[in-house]
Amino acid sequence: MSVDQRPEIENLLAEGRVFPPDPAFAAQANAQPDLYDEAARDPEAFWAKIARETVTWNEPFHTTLDWELPFAKWFVGGKLNMSENCVDRHVASGLGDKVAYHWVGEPGDTRTITFGDLHREVQKAANALLELGIEAGDRVAIYMPMIPELPIAMLACARIGAPHTVVFAGFSAEALSGRINDAQAKLVITADGSYRRGKAMPLKAAVDEAVAASPTIEHVLMVRRLGEAAPETTFVDGRDIWWHDLVDRQEADCPPVPLDSEHMLYLLYTSGSTAKPKGITHTTAGYLVGTSYSHKQIFDIKPDDVYWCAADIGWVTGHSYIVYGPLANGTTGVLYEGTPDSPAWDRWWQIIEEYKVSVLYCAPTAIRAFMKQGAEHPAKHDLSTLRVLGSVGEPINPEAWMWYREHIGGNRAPVVDTWWQTETGQILISPLPGVTTTKPGSATFPLPGIEADIVDGDGNSVPNGGGGYLVLKRPWPAMLRGIYGDPERYKETYWSRFPGMYFAGDGAKRDEEGYFWLLGRVDDVMNISGHRLSTTEIESALVSHPAVAEAAVVGGPDPVTGEAINAFVILRLGFDPTPELGEELRKHVATKISPIAKPKSLMFTPDLPKTRSGKIMRRLLRDIAQGRSLGDTTTLADATVVETIRENSLKSED
Ligand code: WTA
Repeated sequence: MSVDQRPEIENLLAEGRVFPPDPAFAAQANAQPDLYDEAARDPEAFWAKIARETVTWNEPFHTTLDWELPFAKWFVGGKLNMSENCVDRHVASGLGDKVAYHWVGEPGDTRTITFGDLHREVQKAANALLELGIEAGDRVAIYMPMIPELPIAMLACARIGAPHTVVFAGFSAEALSGRINDAQAKLVITADGSYRRGKAMPLKAAVDEAVAASPTIEHVLMVRRLGEAAPETTFVDGRDIWWHDLVDRQEADCPPVPLDSEHMLYLLYTSGSTAKPKGITHTTAGYLVGTSYSHKQIFDIKPDDVYWCAADIGWVTGHSYIVYGPLANGTTGVLYEGTPDSPAWDRWWQIIEEYKVSVLYCAPTAIRAFMKQGAEHPAKHDLSTLRVLGSVGEPINPEAWMWYREHIGGNRAPVVDTWWQTETGQILISPLPGVTTTKPGSATFPLPGIEADIVDGDGNSVPNGGGGYLVLKRPWPAMLRGIYGDPERYKETYWSRFPGMYFAGDGAKRDEEGYFWLLGRVDDVMNISGHRLSTTEIESALVSHPAVAEAAVVGGPDPVTGEAINAFVILRLGFDPTPELGEELRKHVATKISPIAKPKSLMFTPDLPKTRSGKIMRRLLRDIAQGRSLGDTTTLADATVVETIRENSLKSED
C-alpha cells in the first residue's frame, strides 16, 4: 500500500506538541548529545569501543566488522560467554545479593531471585542439560510461561552454547511442533502450566501433541508450576523429566564455555509474508553489545533502578529487554506472570508501587486498554518512582502517548517510543532521554551508530516532509545473521527490494525537522496488540478447515489492539454460511495458531476480488472491512465481486 494514502498521517504530522528534555534529567542522563557525532565519524570504532568497555571477553576480537552484504560478522575472533556476562561477572564484582528479578506470580505468590541465586540455578540447569546429552550447537525449544525458570533455562542454554528457540506459551501445539521441526530441537523445556486471570492454565497437553509430531525431541523437561491444580498433567516415562527431579540434584558448578563471537545464541520464529514463520538467527557478541548498550542509554539505567519490561519473554522484546540486555547491565527487574486486568485493572500500578519501579517498558495496546478503563486506576497508586517510560511493538498514537505521559509518568517521566524488530535484535530508532526533544507519536531519530533512511519505490532517499519505506543502510551489532536454514529467503526478504539496503517492511514518514513517524507494515504482516502475524499464515489455517475453499485475511484498525484481523471466506459446496460455522472457523484459527490470531470478523463470500493475474486485492478487502469508499477497481477480474462481498459482510459479520 502506498504510505501516502493513509489518512492518519496528515493528522500525525500536524502534531504540534513538543517535549524538550528536563534540564535536571539531562544533567544526570547516561546519554549525551555528542554520541551522535562520535558514532557518525566512525561507526565501527564507536561500536568497537563499546564492545571493549561493556563485554567481559575470554579472548579479545581482532576485527570489528566483517561485512559481505548481506552477511555480517561482528567482533570477529572474540570469545565470550553470554551467561557469564549476564550473571557471573556481577557476582564476581560483589553484586551476588543484588536482586535480578522480583517475580510476581499471578495468584500473588512471589519470589526474589538475586544474581547469586541466578548463578547457582543457571549452573545447575546447565548441568542438567549436559546430563540430558545436550551439547554446544544442539537446539533446545523452550515453551514456558513467565516463571523464573524461563530466563534460567535460556541462560543455561547460553552457558553451554546450545541455541534456544523460545516459543510463546500462547502458541498452539501445531505452531510449537512446526518450530521444533524447523529447528530440529532435541529437547523441550516447559511447565505444567501457569496462572492466568485467577485460573490454572495447563500447558502439557499442547506439548504432548507437539512432540507427537516432532521426531527430533528426545526429552521433555517440565517445571512444576501448577502441581495439583493441573491433575490432568501427563507424564511419559523415559521421555518426560520433572525439573525439580533433575535440576535440583545437580552441582552448582558448571563453568561457562568460551564461545565464538558469532556462535548462535538463539533462534526466534517470527511471521513473514508467507505461511511459514522464519527462524531469525541471533549470535552472541553483537547481540550482547547491541542490547546492553541500547538498554542502558534508552532507559537511562542506573545501578538502583527497578526496571519492568511488561512483555512476554516469548517475544523478542522479552529476549532483548527482559533477559539479555538488562541482566548484562546487572539491572534489577520485575517479572510478572499474569495479565494487566486481574484481579483488577490496577494490578500493574499496584506492582509498580510495591516494588518502586522506576522504568516501565510496555506496548501501546496495553496503554490504550488502560486508557479505556480510566485514569482512576493508576491514580489509586503512588507511581512517583517512575522516571522513564518506554513504548514498543506498534505505532503509538499521540493520544495514548499523552495519556501515558500524564497519567503514568506524572507529566514528568520522559516517554521513549522505541522502534525495532525481531530481526534487528535491538532498538534502532528511539529518543534518548535527557537528550532528545520528543513529539507524541514519533520514534524521533535513529540511535547513534544506526543509519536509517526513508526511500521511495526506487530506493531514493525521500526529503524531509515525505514518506516511503524504512530502510537501514549500515549493519548494526545485534542484527539478524540470517533465516535458519534458508539463506536465499534471507536475501530475498530483506536485501532484494532495495539493493544494498535492509528493507524493514515498515512505512514511515519524516517531518520537516527530520523526525521519523512509523506508519505500520507495508507487507502482508499484521500487528495485533504488538504481536506479529502474517495474513497468509491465517489464511492457510482457515483453508485447512474442511468447510473452507479459499480465504483472504486483512488487517483493519482497532482502537485497542491497534490492528484487528478480518477474514473473508469462500465455503466449499455443501457448507452453509451460518453464524455457528463462522464461530467454528474463528476457533479453528485459534487452535491452529494461537488465540491471538483469532479473526475479529469473518465474512462469508461467494468470491474474492482478484487481479487478472489472480492476486487477491487486499486493498479492496481492507476498504470493505473498514467500510471505506472503494478506490479504483478496474484491475478487478470481476468488479461485481466487491459489491457482493459488501452486501454479505453486513449479514455475516459477528
Ligand atoms: C512494529 C517488536 C511503530 C513494526 C519489537 C515492526 C513499531 C514490527 C514499533 C516488529 C514502534 C515495533 N513504532 N511500529 N515503536 N516497534 N513496531 O518483530 O511494524 O514483533 O516492523 O518486534 O512491529 O515486530 P516484532
